[in-house]
Amino acid sequence: MLRKLILAASRSPRLERVIVDSPVSGDVVRRYVPGPAIDDAVRATRDLTGSGLTVTVDNLGEDTTTLEQATAVRDEYVALLRALSAAELTPAAEVSVKLSAVGQRLDEKQTLENARAICAAATEAGTTVTLDMEDHTTTDSTLEILGELRKDFPTTGAVVQAYLRRTEADCRELSAAGSRVRLCKGAYAEPESVAYQSRLEVDKSFVRCVNILMAGDGYPMLATHDPRLIAIGQDRARWFGRSADQFELQMLYGVRPAEQRRLAHDGYTMRVYLPYGTESFGYLVRRLAERPANMALFARSLVAR
Ligand code: FDA
Repeated sequence: MLRKLILAASRSPRLERVIVDSPVSGDVVRRYVPGPAIDDAVRATRDLTGSGLTVTVDNLGEDTTTLEQATAVRDEYVALLRALSAAELTPAAEVSVKLSAVGQRLDEKQTLENARAICAAATEAGTTVTLDMEDHTTTDSTLEILGELRKDFPTTGAVVQAYLRRTEADCRELSAAGSRVRLCKGAYAEPESVAYQSRLEVDKSFVRCVNILMAGDGYPMLATHDPRLIAIGQDRARWFGRSADQFELQMLYGVRPAEQRRLAHDGYTMRVYLPYGTESFGYLVRRLAERPANMALFARSLVAR
């Protein structure tokens, strides 16, 4: 019931204005989302790269319910990539794209064309794209579209979610030479039939996937704020003879920023996932309402460094 109320609130433009315009709650939102416009993303990317970090920029739009909206999102990414390139922030900055935002629930063929246009703009800007992974009903379609994109844009990155029972097998499939794979725990509320439910099971799956990706020939990208899993990832990289430029660590903008800089200072490639856009409030609230663990992540990041 509470979750339904929170999700309903996240779709209220009036409530969003009240929250974002308030000095206190507005500051909290801006800690995770620097602003609504491409200029805000460019400014924040410049600050991050100036501290030795790399970046993946994500456009937060409204839910895409028409093909016109999907085209507008595609155009936004093309403009974003041009702006990042003009500001000489590529290749340190790449972009992350949710296929649902470019039409996945409406028309797969059009989605592929939109994603292809974004990959082409990324290539022109001297950088690349990673396809975010959404709920489990989209996994097969996302991996199929990834396979098509990789024929022309081989550096396009995949995301796999350790909480899904299928993910070890996906890691084996995706660990070929040249393949960039982001491993995260997973952020959606998923049923037991497809996903591990306990923290311990998810963590154990994450470690098994780290082993597969580090042993493989691809480029692993470990997206977690979890100090234990980061230490295990660093240890596994050493075990498999990978130097610091043969894998990377990733965290969300605003979460453990001091630790992000420390890891970069220690010589690791640390990539910050930077969301910007008009849907900042909806993004935060939906992420919080999705799973109790997400609520803990944001709450901790307000008090911890
Ligand atoms: P989790 O939240 O489980 O916390 C584990 C431990 O980490 C805590 O016990 C604590 O020790 C430490 N910790 C966590 N937050 C902290 C804080 N703020 N301060 C101090 N310590 C803290 N999901 C998805 O489904 N699809 C996707 O495409 C992506 N993409 C993505 C990209 C990037 C770069 C990141 C970092 C994450 C994603 N995710 C994602 C989200 C991911 O699946 C997951 O929901 C969150 O990262 C939370 O899980 P963690 O592994 O970070 O730790």
